[in-house]
Amino acid sequence: MKIAILTSSPVENKLLFDTAIERGHECRFIDPRKTYQFVSEHEAGFDRLYYGTDGDAPERITAKSLDCVINRIGSNVEYAAAVLRFLTENLGIYCPNNPWGIIYAANKSWTLQRLSHAKIKVPRTLIAESPAHVKWIVDKIGSLPLIIKANGGSKGKRVAIVDTKKSANSMFEFCVNSGLRVLIEEFIESDSSDIRAWVIGDRVAVAMKRTAVDKDDFRANISRGAKGEKVELSKEDEALCVRGAHCIGLRVAGVDLIKDKKTGTSYIIEINANPGIKIIDLTGENVFTHVIEYCENNYKKGNADGITASMIDSIIMQDGNFLKTVSAALNENAQLKEKVNRLELEKQSQKMNFKFPSK
Ligand SMILES: Nc1ncnc2c1ncn2[C@@H]1O[C@H](COP(=O)(O)OP(=O)(O)O)[C@@H](O)[C@H]1O
Ligand SMILES: [Mg+2]
Repeated sequence: MKIAILTSSPVENKLLFDTAIERGHECRFIDPRKTYQFVSEHEAGFDRLYYGTDGDAPERITAKSLDCVINRIGSNVEYAAAVLRFLTENLGIYCPNNPWGIIYAANKSWTLQRLSHAKIKVPRTLIAESPAHVKWIVDKIGSLPLIIKANGGSKGKRVAIVDTKKSANSMFEFCVNSGLRVLIEEFIESDSSDIRAWVIGDRVAVAMKRTAVDKDDFRANISRGAKGEKVELSKEDEALCVRGAHCIGLRVAGVDLIKDKKTGTSYIIEINANPGIKIIDLTGENVFTHVIEYCENNYKKGNADGITASMIDSIIMQDGNFLKTVSAALNENAQLKEKVNRLELEKQSQKMNFKFPSK
């Protein structure tokens, strides 16, 4: 295959590159930030992708010059996903992941909404812009502690615990007035551990249990110093991870699973379209071998795994197009609207009572 790795971080993705070469493929990096998408007509065949590295004029990347593109997009997700969309939709190049899946994965609320709609277990969650009814919120979620997290965070950097009434009474107000939109989640008691599972196609290629080492932290991200060890998933957990990834349009994804230690129930907490590679050192399993193998087996079949998958993808595409239209409309006067919204929120928050009702 002629493979392109779509990423702005070639150093981090060197192992993927080397694995592709070792398996006899041609491989190159494409940095989404250096592309030009040229659209001239609506008819197919007029769309061109140019890549500006050295020299005065960028090179053209033709559909024939690539068989497969693998996304390793960590930042600038919206733009990079648009480039991936151009490669897959406009030029017809195979990618194991639907570009809309990358957009979904970058947004925790969208992901949870979609998973819940597909009847996949997620922690009880409230998604709200003005979470003012503190007692009601806590009752609805169940009890304290609860988790608040920002939509687009990663590496545990925008996830916090609210474990006392005092904290609840001040935290939501703080979030609203700092312009943060948060998800409020049930705290799943798991001894500060969770599972990162690499879904590749219709199986989990490798999974790792992560446990926070710091007794005073609940976050099990490896980037926060948690320890990781290889685990075998039960058939049910594996199926849950696979279904979760597929339902947002991803065939290669890192699914975060948390297990309630009392009931043993598993919940998906988030899905990563660009999962970190520390799992390779910690488990000794080169996940990229499985990724390339999956692409080898699927690139000629088009952009999905078969009839069911392409049906799911087409639904995502429809939703995605709808969202695209809505978001374009919303963006039109973004700055003005934001200002109006802020003023409105400020006005409302003066009236809102961000507190447990006093006795
Ligand atoms: N609802 C929850 N209950 C208990 N712990 C959670 C919950 N949500 C997240 N965590 C912990 O916080 C970590 C980071 O949360 P996650 O949603 O995966 O965000 P990030 O994108 O920052 O990794 C998880 O790995 C897990 O250890
Ligand atoms: Mg995570």
